[in-house]
Amino acid sequence: MLEYTSIYVLSASFLVGLPFAVLLYAYINSRRSPKPNRDGTLRILKEKSPNLPPAYPLKAYTLAQITSIGPFPCYATLTGVPLPEPYHAFDIKTAKPRPYRPFRWAYHQTMSLTRLEPNWWLELEDTYSTRLLQRSQILQKYKTKIIDRHLNISNPWRVEVACQELMEMVIQFLCSRYPQYFHFDTSKFVFLNRILGREFEVYKMDPLDFVFQNVPEDFAIVMPDDGRGGKYVFVAGMICSSVGWDLGEKIGKALGEIHGVVPEYKEKMERSMDRYFSKLTTDKPIQRGSWDIVVGEPLFVCGGEKFNKRRSGQDHNIKEEDLTLRVDWQTLRRLPLSGGIVFNYKALFTPVKEFEDEPGVPALVEKVLREGNKKILEYKGTWHVEHVVLPMLERMKRRQVEMGVWEEGKEVRTLEESPFYRGWEEKWRNQQEF
Ligand SMILES: *[C@@H]1O[C@H](CO)[C@@H](O)[C@H](O)[C@H]1NC(C)=O
Repeated sequence: MLEYTSIYVLSASFLVGLPFAVLLYAYINSRRSPKPNRDGTLRILKEKSPNLPPAYPLKAYTLAQITSIGPFPCYATLTGVPLPEPYHAFDIKTAKPRPYRPFRWAYHQTMSLTRLEPNWWLELEDTYSTRLLQRSQILQKYKTKIIDRHLNISNPWRVEVACQELMEMVIQFLCSRYPQYFHFDTSKFVFLNRILGREFEVYKMDPLDFVFQNVPEDFAIVMPDDGRGGKYVFVAGMICSSVGWDLGEKIGKALGEIHGVVPEYKEKMERSMDRYFSKLTTDKPIQRGSWDIVVGEPLFVCGGEKFNKRRSGQDHNIKEEDLTLRVDWQTLRRLPLSGGIVFNYKALFTPVKEFEDEPGVPALVEKVLREGNKKILEYKGTWHVEHVVLPMLERMKRRQVEMGVWEEGKEVRTLEESPFYRGWEEKWRNQQEF
């Protein structure tokens, strides 16, 4: 289960990635001053910024400070992460997610934590409306297993601030990135979603509901609870794409309890995680991917036992065309006002047969499956599809050698273009026609 989208998993990964994270701090630490906001609709708000107290980029603000800042401040200024550039060519009818292939060899090498690309915090694609619908059906059925908040911490108001600032950051991102589809009226505080043909009076609704109804991605907010010695606690979120667990069973728990599934790590990991989080600044958000090979497109699977049982055998009815690469693309960033940290996840599915014309990908995945850390692969449960996927990868690899896009006997390691592959952009643009 190690590489599923769950928080304990991401957290576990972050522990493994700590030494790397330290390097990340030391080396990628290019001091960037907050970029001015170029979007005309938001300019008014920027004028509030010079009055901000000097909490940037690590400390949370006091309630009095937050109140004085008022609604809808400029988050590019508050966080030091610039707004995304407008993506005018983008067309929601044909858009495909970028083809993330976060495979690594040597496997243990790094956590492949990289700095978030500000243009890609949220990423819309042609499944936008169907995914929103699918997610709302999951919500109707499972309710607080999907969206919830936990207010039993020493400063419960911070949870509400975090939810609201997440909503505001989402609005600013969407309007700046996809101006053809989203507009925010800063005098009436009305958000227009042209894809759905709907308006939202954003301060009259629950901010988590707003995010849920406009972004088909998962979010989880954690923040330190003084009442529990400053441990980071999972306080709010919406998670639809979990497999084998659900938000309802994790909310309100401290990080150590969340990944209690890996018992031997508990004590050590919890402290390291809390330390790592306490140092994460608003201007250094992180992105990474985890992956799995699955049958079909299982988005939300409630109840781990049934699911695990299905994965404990090799089903001989599985066909090559049933196999899908599931990538969970994850980002992690500190919220500037509440001091919370928000994880964001999206599950992306790609037929494994797509690897055919992706240079080096079949060879790399085959290597990882054959020689990767057995413990990790066991967690992933890839064994239950290996009888189908390994011969398939081998065939694709041989074909790439014949075609001259991959050399026989070439050393297999993480691709230079990671998390993508050579020529990905051309293939991706052809697929989505822009
Ligand atoms: C609130 O949290 C405290 C400390 O974690 C705990 O002892 C208490 O039982 C909780 N109260 C409720 C109503 O859950």
